[in-house]
Amino acid sequence: CCGISHAYVIFGATGNLAANKLLPALYQLHCMGHMAEDVEILGCGRTPFTQETWQIEVRKQFVESGIAEDASLDSFIQRLDYLSGSLKEAAFYQSLGDWIGNDGECANNVVFYLSVSPELYVTVTEGLAAAQLLEESHGWRRMVIEKPFGHDLESARELQHSLSDQLKEEQIYRIDHYVGKEAVQNLLVLRFANLILEPLWNRYHIDHIQITHAETVGVDGRASYYDNSGGAVRDMIQSHLLQVMALLAMEPPVSMEAEALRNEKVKVLQSIRPVNLEQLATHAIRGQYAAGEVKGVAVPGYLQEEGVAAGSHTESYAAMKLYIDNWRWKDVPFYLRTGKRLQERRSMVAVRFKQPPMQLFQGSGIYQPHPNWLLIGIQPEDAVRMEISAKVPGLEMHTRQIVMDASVSTPGERKAEAYEELLLDVIKGDRSLFLRYDEVKAAWTVVDPVMQRWSEDEQLPLQYPAGGWGPKAAEKIFGDSDRAWRHSLSCNGKGSE
Ligand code: BG6
Repeated sequence: CCGISHAYVIFGATGNLAANKLLPALYQLHCMGHMAEDVEILGCGRTPFTQETWQIEVRKQFVESGIAEDASLDSFIQRLDYLSGSLKEAAFYQSLGDWIGNDGECANNVVFYLSVSPELYVTVTEGLAAAQLLEESHGWRRMVIEKPFGHDLESARELQHSLSDQLKEEQIYRIDHYVGKEAVQNLLVLRFANLILEPLWNRYHIDHIQITHAETVGVDGRASYYDNSGGAVRDMIQSHLLQVMALLAMEPPVSMEAEALRNEKVKVLQSIRPVNLEQLATHAIRGQYAAGEVKGVAVPGYLQEEGVAAGSHTESYAAMKLYIDNWRWKDVPFYLRTGKRLQERRSMVAVRFKQPPMQLFQGSGIYQPHPNWLLIGIQPEDAVRMEISAKVPGLEMHTRQIVMDASVSTPGERKAEAYEELLLDVIKGDRSLFLRYDEVKAAWTVVDPVMQRWSEDEQLPLQYPAGGWGPKAAEKIFGDSDRAWRHSLSCNGKGSE
């Protein structure tokens, strides 16, 4: 699509997301030759930059983050323009219209990127609509909407209602950057480009599945968003982790077309059994970090973070046990967990298989056969590992666990960042990695009752020291089974069996 003329209009251009993810991703697309000569990027925000001062600012950010000052950077910076104003005023959209030039002389395809606070999604959409900037008479107009899409089921419905008044569904790109990660897309390839997993991929052979997203960072200067509209469930589980679960559990799609893929994902999300609210303490656990040490550095607790409301009940850790009531997965638990200020930055999937029907080697000494595990690293390592039992060399019939290990990328290969892939897909008009409203709705249906119940609880979430693996009580989620959290891809990692 390097030949497609288009413009990016980024609302919230001076925010964290634009600086850390969007602009660097656009820069990479520029360097890789995925941008036509005339592509322009318009930053919009309240900060009164001019084109020149914004260009200086972005150059500074890029250089600070280690991007070399060379001809590619110079030509990228030339693409940047800036429009300051209030997103609440009609005059702003008039100026934007002038910038876009709705004159019909040439096709002007525009991506509007809503990287603003969710309360402004409707305001901006209505502003654009009133200025007729969403009409597609002179080229396409596409709107990228960041998560969270609503803050619960009801508000998601209202948002969808307002957006669909102004936009056709084909114009809406609900982004979930997690789905754009190489390793997450690789889940589809692992499952559907190979035959060895699929026959085992069901309740007859799988004991349970764990999905972990662990972070060492805290709220990281985003307290106003995180404390009010976030929390681990809204910020991570409702979107990213349920998407990973859907990709792991879905039936093979008839093709990789957007609708085929999304049809299968939504069926999984709609089949998730309502969380058992009667026994919530063993089905959904929430925690909040207390002061501690992460990688040797002392850090404050969540409640001491700047911008967090006094006595806030927002959870920075959550774990949930979910079941999918369908033929393939009935009664197989999926354990999802995520937390900030944990010991390691690691995202992974751990699939534990059932034991063989008979333990022939049980009496063979100290080595008990371990169950097979399939471990899929999402980040930082994108590895695929299979733990199997093998005979220990020697005269006895002793077994031990060995690892079949594959790194997905080879040294020197550049992994695409999620936003690069997704921004390019918007230009191509490929919505397969973007969420459909029914997926979002089904995901809210899963988490809403839990959040509702928590909101009625007067107690603070369980406190856990920063730098650990979350509240001790998170183990309660496994009941009296022999299951335990896997914290790493390594055989000897803490928590492995
Ligand atoms: C974002 C959340 O969507 O995903 C953040 O808002 C979280 O709180 C981030 O840190 C994690 O994604 P990644 O790609 O940075 O690991």
